[in-house]
Amino acid sequence: MAETEAAMNAGTGYTMGHIALHYPEKDDGPVAARLLEIIGLRQTQVLPLADGSNFYRFVVDDRHHDRGDGIIYLSQVPPAQKALHAAIREALAVDTDAEHAAVRDMREAMKADPEYSFHVGLLTHSLEELEGLVSTLRDLAANDPALKGRLNIVINRPLPGDAEVDARLDASPVFGGVTRHAYGRNGVQVFIETDLLVSGPLGDNMVLEIDYVFPNAASHILSVVDLG
Ligand SMILES: [Fe+2]
Repeated sequence: MAETEAAMNAGTGYTMGHIALHYPEKDDGPVAARLLEIIGLRQTQVLPLADGSNFYRFVVDDRHHDRGDGIIYLSQVPPAQKALHAAIREALAVDTDAEHAAVRDMREAMKADPEYSFHVGLLTHSLEELEGLVSTLRDLAANDPALKGRLNIVINRPLPGDAEVDARLDASPVFGGVTRHAYGRNGVQVFIETDLLVSGPLGDNMVLEIDYVFPNAASHILSVVDLG
């Protein structure tokens, strides 16, 4: 994993630069930032803004601390966007008896497939660390005063077929009981749905995805889409 700075800068293509995420209310800022740190992102800056909210900069790992790539910015959803979400929710009578059927259909689609709408995917290089993270998040989602009720974890195993991979996951306290499957082989997907981040047509929540792919596989969930 030890690419040098020169190697990372080589080539004529792009690297993934940055993603801008938003949290809904001022008070959600520190909690959303804490969630990103728990996931393993490195916080490099907290900038208090005049409106009382915080602007945060994170990087996916320490190598990106001073670089222009591997960055995730986090700030409060801007006022005009917030107003638009409110208008959409009012027009579609969201969370009322008169809710538009499209809202229900979208929510059902998201429930069936967390990747149905915009989401952000991160890749971890340790299955053991991912297992530990899932246990931590489940504990926090159940017991932490600030995170309780704000996280929903959904997990996909790979399509079965590789005996070694299947045995490793069968024996896992986290992945052993999972019956959902990814669109591919030799990898797992952990989805963290949270209302601490604003996204989607209603601006109500978003999904962070953390993946692991088994090494040395000819193909895996992120290299080839396989509908089984
Ligand atoms: Fe995805």
